[in-house]
This record gives sequence, C-alpha cells and structure tokens, in this order.
Amino acid sequence: MLDNEVVQTMLRRKSIRKYTEQMPSEEAITTVVRAGQQAPFAYQLCSLLLSREREGHPFRAPLLFTVCVDAHRLERVMARRNWQMVTNDLSLLFFGIQDAALLAENMVIAAESLGMGSCFLGSAPYRAEEIIEENKLPPRVFPLVQLAMGYPAQDPPVRPRYPLEVSLFEGAYPELTDDMIDRAMRVMDEGYLAQGYYRQAGYQIPLEGDRPETFSFENYGWTEHISRKAGQWLASLEDLLEPLAMCGFHVTPGS
Ligand SMILES: Cc1cc2nc3c(=O)[nH]c(=O)nc-3n(C[C@H](O)[C@H](O)[C@H](O)COP(=O)(O)O)c2cc1C
Repeated sequence: MLDNEVVQTMLRRKSIRKYTEQMPSEEAITTVVRAGQQAPFAYQLCSLLLSREREGHPFRAPLLFTVCVDAHRLERVMARRNWQMVTNDLSLLFFGIQDAALLAENMVIAAESLGMGSCFLGSAPYRAEEIIEENKLPPRVFPLVQLAMGYPAQDPPVRPRYPLEVSLFEGAYPELTDDMIDRAMRVMDEGYLAQGYYRQAGYQIPLEGDRPETFSFENYGWTEHISRKAGQWLASLEDLLEPLAMCGFHVTPGS
C-alpha cells in the first residue's frame, strides 16, 4: 500500500471511549469544524450543535457535537430569494444524511490529526424529543448522530474490517459464496476475539425470546454481535418515522 501522513491518520483512527480532562482549545474546535465544513456537500443540509458540559456527556467527553440534518436554514435562504421548497422530504433526508456524514467524518479525521479522539453515538434520532427541547431546535432540523470528542485517555487497537474480497467489486457484483462469507466472518470474529473487545466491554447483547444462550466471551465475536442487533432491534418503522415527524419531516406517501 502507499503511505503518507493523511493515509496513516485514517488507518490508525479508532473510536475513543475514555477521555482526559483537557478541554480542546477554541482554536482546535474551530479547526475541526472548519475541516468538517470543507467536506463535499450536496446542499449544505446540515448543522452542528456543540456542548462542552462534560458531566452530561457519554464517556464524560469534553465535547459533544450533535450532527443535524438541517432543512430549516436552506428554507430561510430560499424564502429570501422568494422560493419555496418543493423537493420531497425523503430526498432532502438522503442528501442531508450524506452532507452530515461527510462533514462529521472530516471532523473525525481532523481531530485525529490534531491528537484528539472521537466516537460516534447513534441514539440521537431516537432521543429527538429531548434534543429538540434541550437545544430549542426549530422545525426541519433532525438530530442525526452525535460525536464525542476530546483527548484520548486510552489507546485501543485499530479494529478489523471486512476484507477487500467482499468489499470491492469490479465490473459486476459477484456471487458471494459461503467460503467468501466465512473468510470475511473469520477476519472480523478472530480480530475482535484476539483484541478481547467484548470481554473487556463486559457486554454481550442478550437474546430475546426463548433462544438459549450458547456464546461466552470465548466465542462471542462481531458477527454474532451485529446479527443480534439487526436480528432483534429497531424492527418497527415507527421508531424512526415518529422522531422524523416530530422534527417536521414526512416521508410516507400522503403525509
Ligand atoms: C452511525 C454510528 C453510530 C455509532 N453509535 C455508537 C454508539 O452508540 N456507542 C458506541 O460506543 N459506539 C458507536 N459507534 C462507533 C462504532 O461502534 C465504531 O465505529 C465501530 O465499532 C468500529 O470501531 P472503530 O471506530 O474503533 O474502528 C457508532 C458509529 C457510527 C458510524
């Protein structure tokens, strides 16, 4: 592989879930946010909320950004130009989620390059009501994801990823054979088990219903973890349609 400082920064990054007391400087915060903003965008359909009140933050991180899909600001701009939004909310959300994700990931890499660490938190959409209230969000602003940030007080290993064999396809999407899938699963599971990830976290997702538990920290790896998540959680569309509607986004026909 080729190697340079930018690639090294990207390849050494890992989620940080323990932070020092040090508060990043105003200059560091501005640098990270400006680097984020300079990501490619479709419509600039996103904005950031920043909290520096570590006591209420996950991992007591000094900084907590809430990355929002923001149609409010564009609608204000359009109104000044005597235009009204006709783009449907699903399209706005697709573009807004991409704008927000690209901005947030630029922030993550900028932070890493400045000696900081970060960790995304996915619960924001499901806590929309509380986030709206705390931050006085106007309608048409949707809390997509949160990003904890600060100086790392831990140095966990870089986590494994699927091999390129099942990630990069040229020409046509291949038939994924059982052997290919098994190889990919081995890379992920052996990687996480060797790092003792779930053992250190002391956490296995409990099985719902009457499925008997057959896993221990000896063999509970990432593929079982992610299967339990996607096989048990967030089955109902309402889980997301409700918070979206609360924020003024309507994505079902006729709504
Ligand atoms: C959208 C999104 C939501 C996430 N939510 C959480 C979360 O709620 N809690 C957490 O500890 N990590 C969360 N993460 C971090 C992932 O667990 C982490 O990125 C993944 O396990 C890979 O590990 P790495 O970032 O160290 O390479 C989230 C990541 C993303 C992109």
